[in-house]
Amino acid sequence: MEQRLTIDYQEFDSPQQMSAEDQALITAAFEAKKGSYSPYSHFQVGAALLLEDGTVVHGANQENVAYPSGLCAERTAMFAAGANYPALSFRTLAIVASDHGVTCDFPASPCGSCRQVMAEYQKKQGKPFSIILIGDKRIRKFARVDDLLPFIFDSLD
Ligand code: THU
Repeated sequence: MEQRLTIDYQEFDSPQQMSAEDQALITAAFEAKKGSYSPYSHFQVGAALLLEDGTVVHGANQENVAYPSGLCAERTAMFAAGANYPALSFRTLAIVASDHGVTCDFPASPCGSCRQVMAEYQKKQGKPFSIILIGDKRIRKFARVDDLLPFIFDSLD
């Protein structure tokens, strides 16, 4: 039996087409990107994570001379929120990337490990959170982690 999976997401040409809340979080993601430590890739990524009480947690990619020891912006933000605000659920995660200081025209898409971590926190809070992927020419908004990670691994039972 052939099956087809489709996902819904929104696309915008600029933040002005989005809600005031999303616009503010996009601005925060650009601000977060300033914390990128990326001397090896020169690819700067910022993540701003809005929590249910309005708190915004910043993350930025952190690289290391021993490459696998670094961490993506998304996980930096999510782990900081998980560690510092364990009782607060995630509302929206916004991500922006630059290559050698120039904002990418089209949004960078989170790696598989970051998607898996998103899935864990979504499961922990028992309700979906949104993800905004920001590019200079295109912005994409996903309503839940499932839309970035179909067939999420849950447990062995
Ligand atoms: N990176 C992120 O921080 N997030 C992504 O979604 C993609 C990749 C980082 C990892 C590394 O520091 C650099 O970007 C180049 O891969």
